[in-house]
Amino acid sequence: MTVSVAELKTHLRIQHDEEDGLLESLLKQAQAAAMAQRQAMQPVSASIRRVDFLLGGDPGLQYNNKALEKRVEEAVAAGIEEILIITGRGKGIMEDHFDRAPELEERLSRAGKERELSEVRRAADLANIFYVRQKETKGLGHAIWRAKRFVGDEPFAVLLGDDIMRAKKPVTLQLVEAAEKYGASAVGVQRVATEAISRYSSVKIAPLEERVFSVSDMNEKPSPEQMFSNYAILGRYVLTPDIFDILERVKPGYGGEIQLTDGLRELCQNSRMVAVDFEGRRYDTGNLNGFLEATIDFALDHPAAGPWLRGFLKEKAAQL
Ligand code: G1P
Repeated sequence: MTVSVAELKTHLRIQHDEEDGLLESLLKQAQAAAMAQRQAMQPVSASIRRVDFLLGGDPGLQYNNKALEKRVEEAVAAGIEEILIITGRGKGIMEDHFDRAPELEERLSRAGKERELSEVRRAADLANIFYVRQKETKGLGHAIWRAKRFVGDEPFAVLLGDDIMRAKKPVTLQLVEAAEKYGASAVGVQRVATEAISRYSSVKIAPLEERVFSVSDMNEKPSPEQMFSNYAILGRYVLTPDIFDILERVKPGYGGEIQLTDGLRELCQNSRMVAVDFEGRRYDTGNLNGFLEATIDFALDHPAAGPWLRGFLKEKAAQL
């Protein structure tokens, strides 16, 4: 099994699970060329009023559209051209976000608001995006399996929903490069505290080079006694399509759901898999604190809002 970056064709599928805010992604048709990563918060959205996004009170749908856009950007920056988003009930707004918005564009154009106009169009022009609705939630492994026909015979990348990355080199690209170098599938990992490991999957690893390990086993949401290491998979994968046959027969695991981790366990035992201790910060935007951290950090990068926010935060900090 080889994953060649030059030939890498990757599928992106993103699923949103209404109950726990899970979004998952598979990336299609990745190519070698890395594009500059755009990290700045884009404040204008065709489907969300700006005030909703910035001031929303809980990690709901408004947040997820922007979080989704961040992942689409990351995929595009890894050279990925086709994206399949798996949506659920009530997710029409997500589709609108990546669609053209003729009335809004017309209004902005008439008002001479060129910057806002290009930002509205930007989301629609990011990539070729396809959608599939998920009717039942049987777990991440089941969701990934649903993308089988879209993915076909090619390696693909998975970007899990709530995990938003801020990195100099896009995390998906870091994985694609390691997958290519080792002719392997790749998972993105970072060390987490022992008390936190039961929120993730833990991997059994042996070092290959700085920040890259070979993977021989893993388990989903282990207790500290069961964990293989403090390295947890944090929502980024580059996989070969052999995973689909495995997922077809994987038995329900943790929480009675078809777990991707259980499928990956078999994959890493049958073929080569590397873990990349990726460079960059990961935000868990599935909870309000994580979302606020991401919002502030990305907004600090924003050319227009960043300098203002810096001053505002200093003023606030002085009052605390
Ligand atoms: C999922 C995966 C888990 C992974 C985690 C990363 O868990 O099942 O293996 O470590 O994402 O965020 P979930 O967040 O759906 O509980």
